[in-house]
Amino acid sequence: MKEHIVVTGASGLVGRALLRNYLGQGRPVIALSRKPPMLPGLDPASHPLLSWHWGDVSLPRLGLAPETYAEVCAKAQIVFHLAARTDFKDGTAASYLPVNLEGVKHVLALAQEAKAPLHQVSTAFVCGDWAGEFREGDLDLGQHFRNGYEESKFLGESFLHGAMAAASVPITIHRPGIVVERNPSAASGKTFGPFLFLDAVARMRDSAEAKGVAELPVLRVQGNRQAHLPLVFDDAVAEALVRLAAQPESGGQVFQLVAPQPVGNDLLEDAFNEAFGQPAAHLAGEEAFAHQPANSLEALLARKTTPYAAYLDLSVRFTRRNLDTLAGAETLPTPKLAELTQAFRAFLAARSQRSRA
Ligand SMILES: NC(=O)c1ccc[n+]([C@@H]2O[C@H](COP(=O)([O-])OP(=O)(O)OC[C@H]3O[C@@H](n4cnc5c(N)ncnc54)[C@H](OP(=O)(O)O)[C@@H]3O)[C@@H](O)[C@H]2O)c1
Repeated sequence: MKEHIVVTGASGLVGRALLRNYLGQGRPVIALSRKPPMLPGLDPASHPLLSWHWGDVSLPRLGLAPETYAEVCAKAQIVFHLAARTDFKDGTAASYLPVNLEGVKHVLALAQEAKAPLHQVSTAFVCGDWAGEFREGDLDLGQHFRNGYEESKFLGESFLHGAMAAASVPITIHRPGIVVERNPSAASGKTFGPFLFLDAVARMRDSAEAKGVAELPVLRVQGNRQAHLPLVFDDAVAEALVRLAAQPESGGQVFQLVAPQPVGNDLLEDAFNEAFGQPAAHLAGEEAFAHQPANSLEALLARKTTPYAAYLDLSVRFTRRNLDTLAGAETLPTPKLAELTQAFRAFLAARSQRSRA
């Protein structure tokens, strides 16, 4: 029976949240990724509603055995395509294309064979360096990209816009903002976003402590306190995806999965320092660094967080009219200071528990 939710990239940050949501509702899920999804308290090998198959989206038919591919297609009711190369290591798109463009083509082929609607998880940062309002109907505005990830996601989404008219299944594009795990693990320090900065500062504090340095000075991070980030919690993104996928009218539309208000960098800084329980780092502008150059610790922190520095001076604003209309204005609320502080504290606790283990 075609009742399964198929999720590529199920082992990733957003994929795990989507799995938790659907499995929590008692819906059967087929997870496709190269590593099995690791969910606390849930064994993918024995969960009655979850089946996991090794799949590589860069390969035709995802590299699945013909009988597995046929079974996935026969069971799929909805296909969510989340798998992507998400690091920011390369400046141009070329090395990302096997996954972030060819992968999109392969998963569209799967959805078409399955006769199941395709929900493509793109990113709000297809906007590149666009400053100002970026609407659901916007895509190519002549923007430049900060890295190969952004550009490759833009190319993947562009391909689908081109394919929509001829495709035999409805295609929906979702563009999440920056996704923050509500219940992070120690491994979350490797993911894009605030945990990476928390991890870098926590490492420096650990190393100072190990050397017997009583107190680390408050570190400056180059960025704009007046700017903001389109942060959203992972569970809220999953809920939005589930709500939208339940509505056939979502086919053919673009949804920007952002909160009604972005999170101010000043609020983010407060949550950061509250999580440490004392001032640990603050944002300072270019002029401040020109006046007083970075000390060695600040320079080290900047090196460790280089690819992300470009996101600390954003002025782009994303509209979410389609999301409000179809999923409701209460979907994807703006993360609050207390919620962010709690998530940051949970991350710091998880990483110190890991280092004690
Ligand atoms: N996190 C964010 O802030 C954010 C924001 C906007 C949009 N997005 C989009 O949301 C989607 C999910 O992102 P995420 O944050 O969950 O990413 P993530 O944590 O880095 O996970 C990436 C997922 O893609 C899979 N993957 C990578 N290469 C693959 C390949 N060749 N074949 C099959 N699977 C592959 C990984 O699984 P294996 O390694 O196990 O194969 C993993 O499940 C992506 O499309 C991303 O562009 C994320």
